[in-house]
This record gives sequence, C-alpha cells and structure tokens, in this order.
Amino acid sequence: MTTFLKKKRKRSLNSSESFSDIDTANLPYHVAIIMDGNGRWAKKRILNRIEGHKKGVEVVRLIVRTCREIGISILTLYAFSTENWQRPKTEVAALMSLLKNFLESEQKDMLDNNIRLNAIGQIERLPEDVQQALHKTMSLTKKNGGLMLNLALSYGGRDEIVRMVQEIAARTKEGKIDPDLITPELVSDFLYTKGMPDPDLLIRTSGEMRISNFLLWQIAYTEIFVTETLWPDFGRQEFLQILKHYQHRERRFGKV
Ligand code: IPE
Ligand code: IPE
Ligand code: MG
Repeated sequence: MTTFLKKKRKRSLNSSESFSDIDTANLPYHVAIIMDGNGRWAKKRILNRIEGHKKGVEVVRLIVRTCREIGISILTLYAFSTENWQRPKTEVAALMSLLKNFLESEQKDMLDNNIRLNAIGQIERLPEDVQQALHKTMSLTKKNGGLMLNLALSYGGRDEIVRMVQEIAARTKEGKIDPDLITPELVSDFLYTKGMPDPDLLIRTSGEMRISNFLLWQIAYTEIFVTETLWPDFGRQEFLQILKHYQHRERRFGKV
C-alpha cells in the first residue's frame, strides 16, 4: 500500500514577494511539466537547437525556485524521454552534458534550500558520469524535506508499465503475490513513482496536444494545461497564472 502523507510544506516567502491572488492552502501537491519547445525557440532565432536547451535549463532553475518558494511539494520534470535517444548523437550528448552541469551547479542550491533530488526512468542507460553526478546529488539531498525535484530521465510511460508487469509477474510466479490481490495501489507501488501521490497538475509548453509517453498511469485524473509558450520563454508569471487557473478547476474524479 502506498502511504505518503500529504504534509503541507511551509512556504519560505520573502515579504516582498507576492502570490496574493493564489490560495496557498489549495496548491497542487504534485506538479508535472512536459518542457517542450527548446528546438523551436532556437530555430526562430536561427540558433542551434542546443542553444534552446541551454536557455531551457535557466527556466528549470526559475521554476524550481518558484515551486520551492510557493510551497509545491513535488515537481516532476520531463527532461529526456526513452524516444529522445533517437535524436542525433550530438544533441543527445549536449543534453547529457547540460544535465551533468545542472546537477553539479545546483547541488549547493538544493542543499541550502532543503530540496530533495529524485530521478525516475532508465537511469542505468545514462552515461556513467551523469549517473555518478545523479547518485551523488540524490544521496546528498536524500534527507531534505522541502520540495522534491523529480527528474524524468530516459523515462517512458510504457517502459515503466512493462517493468511493473514484469516485476509483478515474477513475484506472482514465485507465489509472493496473489493475482486476486493485485489492486491499483499495488500497481502504483511497482512504478518509478512509488510512494508519490499522482500529479494534480500537468503542464505542457509549446502547444502540442499530446502526452508523449509521460506518466501514463499516474495522470488518470490530473488536470492538464497546455500553453503555446515555448519552454525557454516560460516563466514565473505564467506558471503562477496556471496555478491560479488550476484553483478554479472543479475536480470531480468521476463523481457528480
Ligand atoms: C524539449 O524541447 C526538450 C527535450 C525533449 C529534451 P525539444 O527539443 O523537443 O524542442 P522542439 O519540440 O523541437 O521545439
Ligand atoms: C517530450 O517532448 C519529451 C520531453 C519534453 C523530454 P518531445 O519533443 O520529445 O515529444 P514529441 O516528439 O513532440 O511528442
Ligand atoms: Mg519537442
């Protein structure tokens, strides 16, 4: 059984900052973001796609900071999909190097600000040096109880579901799981997101109306917002605006 107490985080706002029209008692607990549009942002400026990814990392910093300040508990960022391995080698290498730099440069900020880093996906497929930086930062920050920054890396929803089925099937074969006792809660416990409540809010930038293999099981009742803004142009104000819209949505969960 998944037992994850939704403990409200204390906000750490400066009095100069204002989230005045947002009800901080009714924030999404878990926000997930499909950060899309880096390549198009660069193309519009006749720049290399990599420049778009670089600008994208700056926006990641900004949104992490905003989530921490306002009191979001989990921020899951789709940073690299299982399909993204099929991009040109140079782009994949650049993304991996940006990821490693990000982990190294943000370590201090995470420690100073009580942020816990977590990763979901096929971590073992990442380059050795990236895996090392990742494990080091995760282990250094594992006791932090503030914002959880959850990076989806070499992540695919179908891959996650296949792994879950393989593990449950293996345990069933060994007689450790009774097939009649397989419940949605048990399934959730065999996913990368074990222990985390499902996202309340999913944001996709750059206007595409698709899920692109992200958190397929977990978004059953997630509120979805798609913005036309390309990820490198996304920012604090628009993020807060989306939080405000979220607060006006009526979540019915199939009831009346
Ligand atoms: C998102 O931006 C970043 C990753 C998928 C790693 P894209 O690189 O997909 O940018 P577009 O969609 O080509 O504009
Ligand atoms: C989704 O964006 C993956 C990430 C943001 C990491 P993509 O650009 O890879 O997705 P598609 O190709 O538009 O579906
Ligand atoms: Mg894209």
